[in-house]
Amino acid sequence: MPQLIAGNWKMHCLAAEAVALAQGVAAGAQGIEAELLVCPTALHVEAVARALQGTPVAVGGQDCHQAKQGAHTGDIAGPMLRDAGATWVILGHSERRQNHGETDELVREKTLAAVAAGLTPIVCVGENADQRAGGQETEVVGWQLAGSLPKPFAGVVAYEPIWAIGTGKTATEEDVALMHAFIREELVRQFGDDGQTIRILYGGSVKAANAASLLAVPNVGGALVGGASLNAGEFLAIARAAQAG
Ligand code: PGA
Repeated sequence: MPQLIAGNWKMHCLAAEAVALAQGVAAGAQGIEAELLVCPTALHVEAVARALQGTPVAVGGQDCHQAKQGAHTGDIAGPMLRDAGATWVILGHSERRQNHGETDELVREKTLAAVAAGLTPIVCVGENADQRAGGQETEVVGWQLAGSLPKPFAGVVAYEPIWAIGTGKTATEEDVALMHAFIREELVRQFGDDGQTIRILYGGSVKAANAASLLAVPNVGGALVGGASLNAGEFLAIARAAQAG
C-alpha cells in the first residue's frame, strides 16, 4: 500500500488562499507515488474539492459530529462533508481533545459516523510531554486506541506526540519505531489480521528535511503534516520522500 501524505491545514487560509494552495499541490502531484490528501477548514472543503477535481489529490475534513444531522448549532455532520466533496476526515486530533474536551468514547462515535457517511477516518492518538516524561506513553496510546477505534475499523491511525506538534521537535526515529511497533501490536490484538494492514501515520513537526528518515521507519504508513503542509513546495517534497509501498 502506498504511504499517505496528509496535510492538516487547521484554521489557516482564506478561501482564495486555500484554492491556490490546493492547485499548487495538484500541479506538482504528477509522478508522486504516495497518496495525497489535503484537509482544509470545513468551510473550504467544497471549493478545494472543486479545484482538485480530476487530480490525484483527495480532500478531507478536520472533524465531524457523531450524529448524522440534528439540533447541533455550529457543528458539521459527516454527510455534509461527504456532500461537499470530502472523502476523508481527521478525528480526535489532540487540539480537539484538548480544546474541545473530546474523549475516546466521543472519538469512537465520530469514527462510526464518519464511516457511515462514506468518509475514511484518520484517528489521532498521542501522549503529552508529562506522560512521556513519566514513561507512560505506550499506556496512554494503548488506552486511546482501545477507546477510540470501533470494531471493525476501516480507517487510518495517526500517532502524533503532542509535544512534537507545531514545536519543531520531532520524535527520534527510535521513538517512532518503538511507538509504531507498539501500535501495530495493539491493532493486531484488537483486529486480528486486519490490524496488520491499517496504516499508521506519524505526525508532529514533519518537514521536507526530516521526512525521508521518518517515513523509512518500519510501520510508518505516511505522515500527517501541519505547518509544513501550508506550503505546496514543502508538502510535495515530503510526498516525494514517501515510499510507494
Ligand atoms: P505540525 O502539526 O506538523 O505543525 O507539527 C501536525 C498536526 O497537528 O497534525
